[in-house]
Amino acid sequence: MTEQYLGLPIGPADTAFGLMAEYDADQHLNKVSLIAGAYRDENGQPWVLPSVKEAKARLAQDQNHEYLGIAGSPALINVAQSLTFGSNMTKNLDKSIASIQTVSGTGANHMAAHFLARHLRPKRVYIPSPTWINHQTIWAGVGIHIEEYPYYSAETRGVDLEGMLSVFETTAEERDVVVLQACAHNPTGVDLTHEQWARVAEVMKRKKLYVLFDSAYQGFATGDVNGDAWSIRYFVEQLIFNGEPDHPGLCVAQSFSKNFGLYGERVGVLHLVVPRHLAAQGARSELLGLARAEYSNPPRYGASIVETVLGNEELKGQWLRDLDTMSSRIKSMRRELRRRLESKETPGDWSVLESQIGMFSYTALSQKQVTRLREEFHIYLLPSGRVSICGLNEKNVEYVASAFREVIGFNSN
Ligand SMILES: Cc1ncc(COP(=O)(O)O)c(C=O)c1O
Repeated sequence: MTEQYLGLPIGPADTAFGLMAEYDADQHLNKVSLIAGAYRDENGQPWVLPSVKEAKARLAQDQNHEYLGIAGSPALINVAQSLTFGSNMTKNLDKSIASIQTVSGTGANHMAAHFLARHLRPKRVYIPSPTWINHQTIWAGVGIHIEEYPYYSAETRGVDLEGMLSVFETTAEERDVVVLQACAHNPTGVDLTHEQWARVAEVMKRKKLYVLFDSAYQGFATGDVNGDAWSIRYFVEQLIFNGEPDHPGLCVAQSFSKNFGLYGERVGVLHLVVPRHLAAQGARSELLGLARAEYSNPPRYGASIVETVLGNEELKGQWLRDLDTMSSRIKSMRRELRRRLESKETPGDWSVLESQIGMFSYTALSQKQVTRLREEFHIYLLPSGRVSICGLNEKNVEYVASAFREVIGFNSN
């Protein structure tokens, strides 16, 4: 075999993207993809939001292909701040916030990790177990020791609150970073209640832990943009407005991929929120330095779409209806899958399908069952048993439920 350049081994392919390629090559008529973290309409097709369509029509005359500034579009940053924190809190934060447009949510997470590794210098970063696969990759890339905290209990099929709190209580040290998903937890679909968030915030505040909110599903989760940002706003109240002066602060990595269906346009913003008695301008100029060295200027088109929609009352109203369309369809598919699995007396507790929120569900299917689904039924999901509910529709939900029944009924593990 030919030796690899620089001795570099060929790494494993990305699981999700590898499975998607396999799905694309599958010629079976009834094939179903429950892999991708992207919305699909009732015909299984990508959906361009009507609000986005209208914004694009309005932008059609816009012939501006100039560079954005290094920080990105100021108009995007304004609407992104208001969407995340609400307009009152944004006003009150004033000089305590430094925001920069990023290469979508991934770029915001990466920019945060890069910045924090260099300047906050935490001993460790805590990421949920399980979590979005890229958290691990991003933090490994900046050389910070990664610890996982228990997030999901397979036993209760809910949040393992006591497990996570006990890890923070016993092992976390001041200025360690804790990554929290703001809503619609990927991959479990299980979120904390307000009371549980309050308990987590209390520990973050008391132990002076730095919180990184990953916010990839605001509005997409439930259709309620304010409800989906509740955790972030509560933490800002607790850690910034009512926090100790030596609390290190928090940040929010915001993505517009899912809630605008702008996956390929790469629109995101990173918001750093610093303690009230300190100024954020130095941190902002450091973020600009990082951006300059990495990509110079973020992409313009997706930002124009988002700021056009959120900056116009009529388009924003349409966008809120679009969010409702997406989240309602997901809810109805959760209901349908549950109903069909239960009516077939499929072993397992399927009520969780409806108590989980957002795009993803943890089915508790074993790897063996997942393999059978793919090989015999041409139904594709991640080996962890995570399904993307978006891949379900009226035409395939019965087929999927029957296949689940089959693999669960004949194979207990
Ligand atoms: C939890 C979480 N964070 C961040 C992202 C980043 O998405 P993007 O880079 O497309 O904005 C995703 C996408 O799946 C996600 O699920």
